[in-house]
Amino acid sequence: MTLLIKNGKLITASESFYADILVEEEQIALVGKDLPVPDNAEVVDASGKLVLPGGVDPHVHLNLPMFGTVSSDDHYTGHKAAAFGGTTTCMDFVPHGPGSLKENIDGWHERADHLAAIDFSFHVNIERWSEQVAAEIVELVNDGVTSIKVFTAYNGSMRLEDGDIFRVMRVAKENGYLTMLHAENGDVIDILVAEAVAAGNLSPEWHAMTRPAWGAVEAVLRASALAGQADAPLYVVHINTAGGVDQLKYARERGLSVMGETCPQYLFFTIDNLRRQDGAKWVCSPPMRTLEDNQRLWQGLKNGTLQTMGTDHCAFFYDGSKPIMYEGKPVAIPGKELGKDDFTKIPNGLPGMADRMPIMWTYGVRTGLMSENQFVALNCTNPAKIFGLYPRKGSLIPGADADIVIWDPDRYLVYGVDVAHHRTDYNLYEGWELRGYPEKVFLRGKMIVDGERWLGKAGMGRYLNRQPFSPVL
Ligand code: URP
Ligand code: ZN
Ligand code: ZN
Repeated sequence: MTLLIKNGKLITASESFYADILVEEEQIALVGKDLPVPDNAEVVDASGKLVLPGGVDPHVHLNLPMFGTVSSDDHYTGHKAAAFGGTTTCMDFVPHGPGSLKENIDGWHERADHLAAIDFSFHVNIERWSEQVAAEIVELVNDGVTSIKVFTAYNGSMRLEDGDIFRVMRVAKENGYLTMLHAENGDVIDILVAEAVAAGNLSPEWHAMTRPAWGAVEAVLRASALAGQADAPLYVVHINTAGGVDQLKYARERGLSVMGETCPQYLFFTIDNLRRQDGAKWVCSPPMRTLEDNQRLWQGLKNGTLQTMGTDHCAFFYDGSKPIMYEGKPVAIPGKELGKDDFTKIPNGLPGMADRMPIMWTYGVRTGLMSENQFVALNCTNPAKIFGLYPRKGSLIPGADADIVIWDPDRYLVYGVDVAHHRTDYNLYEGWELRGYPEKVFLRGKMIVDGERWLGKAGMGRYLNRQPFSPVL
């Protein structure tokens, strides 16, 4: 298969320029001006359009069991939604269930592989420590997994003690893996949740009130200090506070190999959203904070303290008792209504895979908060580099997979649940006006999105074995 994308303006992480792209089979073969049209080539005219590398979402949760239900997007529906939003690679977390890490990974492949519609990879949670687990971590590279996530919260389930986090970091470092960390203070959260419940404070805002910002701030510094002592690289996921950005900056200025991710929800929403009558829609961990936090996170993206935009996509229905139509069939999955009388029972998480690039384009690039090149760096190139996929993913250079988005910078639309394609019944950005949206999306040279048309299918997404010893940005 030969494809020639002509006359577009290419946007990379470092520059913007006019060029054509020649795709042979699944890869970019040539990038240059006025490339001749080969015999039998399919030609796509991108005049007036931008040409971007496919987005790489480093942080999603698909088909994740939680609170007696399961997150509502699986590895097909989530991937499809991501593709409509310009993302062609995503990374999902394998929980540390009973059995070995290898068995858990194999189990996650059984859930994912036949459904995958974009390319994908796994991170693995480390939720308990032992010498056996240490030995299993060493073997992860054989399954293409080179990043592991640990938690300073969720006591009694996913949380690790600081000493065990330190141990994990050392094993990770020795094997060229990246430790990812969820930064909140699990001890304080448990005390505050018990007090709130005892006092009858059960509305969604108490989800945020019982997870104070200070817990996230000190956990970012604590984790950075642990990484410094382990001489290991660290990637702090879903940073949601101004203080978290400050602590990351402090650590980076002292030469520690620490990096940070934020997500669109932390840039646009505050605890006031949880105070709404439908506040459960915004319940996720860590929670929304204040306008000041939003602003500092924007600054952190602009000045390079933060390296990536993830989504932490973990969708649930707002009212899982009422079916929606998905691909012509009614679907209802228990969701946020499980906690309608008690915030501790609201499944944590929200939709976002489809939203990330379109929302960040209109409200980040068009508003002048970031350049189009920073947009590509944060959403495509940096996640690929940090997680061992570059230059195969996140780039538009010869030899890269032909994951290409033709982006219409003038397309106007009113966004919301009907546009986003997530398998859920709400969208956080309902009614937001967008200018700029993917027009065509290619996965390894195959068109999977053409305007409103879905051309992808379950099973065409490929599992990506990732490389160890990736760079620290
Ligand atoms: O609320 C969230 N984010 N749920 C997913 C689990 C996590 O901590 O990332
Ligand atoms: Zn987390
Ligand atoms: Zn997450």
